[in-house]
Amino acid sequence: KKKLKEEIYEINRLAAIFYYKCLYSRSGQAALKYLYDRGIDDVTIKRFGLGYSPSSGLELLKYLKEHKYSIDTMVNAGLISKSNNGRFYDRFRNRVMFPIIDEKNNVIGFGGRVLDNMKPKYLNTPETIVFKKGKTLYGINYAKKTREDKFIIVEGYMDAIALYQSGIDNVVASLGTALTLEQGKLIKKYKNIVVISYDADEAGVEATIRGLNLLDELNLNVNILTVPNGKDPDEYVRKEGFDAFKKLLEKTDTLIEYKIKKYKQDLDLNNPADRIKYIKKVCKDLSTIKDKVKRDVYVSIVAKDAQIPENTIRAEIDQFVKGFV
Ligand code: CTP
Ligand code: MN
Ligand code: MN
Ligand code: MN
Ligand code: MN
Repeated sequence: KKKLKEEIYEINRLAAIFYYKCLYSRSGQAALKYLYDRGIDDVTIKRFGLGYSPSSGLELLKYLKEHKYSIDTMVNAGLISKSNNGRFYDRFRNRVMFPIIDEKNNVIGFGGRVLDNMKPKYLNTPETIVFKKGKTLYGINYAKKTREDKFIIVEGYMDAIALYQSGIDNVVASLGTALTLEQGKLIKKYKNIVVISYDADEAGVEATIRGLNLLDELNLNVNILTVPNGKDPDEYVRKEGFDAFKKLLEKTDTLIEYKIKKYKQDLDLNNPADRIKYIKKVCKDLSTIKDKVKRDVYVSIVAKDAQIPENTIRAEIDQFVKGFV
């Protein structure tokens, strides 16, 4: 008897094929138009295996039954759910479907997006024996194959797909803002450099700081790409194009640069109390930089910003360094 995991990979792959076929059938017309309207072409749809889940809630069930799968397997895969009245129905209904594929090319789960502004915007496969959201990086199956020395990490399905279609293929999506240690380790298996390019909204900025601390602790070389005007990478690359995004990629901030920028945004350096906060925060960050030259370059920048002597900054940094030993 086939192993349970193998059977789930297999049924997921079959479901992905079903959804893909539906996208190009009569019932998928609106979903296909939705993707075209978002600038996604047929080649990209095929490459990512995008699809459409019909709205009746009975069609996948029927299809999988025809292929001789048991209800148990369907439920274990997270494709079929049981309703209160004991009937079984498709979990994903009337959504654009994004198969989630792992580094070994197994279809481990799905994300499904509504075609309008209904909530939840995305529905994902629940935790199954093969799908753990926090251990997954969407797009890893393609990104791992590129020659680039780095991964660009984005929040969403559409960010990864849009960048990919524009010609940037070393992208992975964390499927939301809560980057986990497991995701960090998965990145580290393949690359030493990461560029975080999260949404330029409040949640994205907060997640960027959390994510960059986490990745820094894994000794990854982390850089931050800030997308202008509150957009996400998908919106940006669609509107401004590939070259504009490439330019942003050349102007990323290092961890320390990003933090300094952030402190300056949040604090008023003309206010003495804020200036003190600024100095303390930055000195703590600078104390973690081991390279003396690198550290000194920032010391002179910070001294100018805060209008105090460089030696005072150095002394403060030393306090933190001592504190660690
Ligand atoms: N997400 C999720 N469930 C939600 C909202 C978001 O799983 N209810 C995940 C999805 O992987 C989504 C990512 O978080 O792609 C980023 O969320 P968000 O920025 O809100 O969505 P976008 O990817 O920008 O979606 P779209 O462009 O399709 O509106
Ligand atoms: Mn977001
Ligand atoms: Mn978006
Ligand atoms: Mn977004
Ligand atoms: Mn820089």
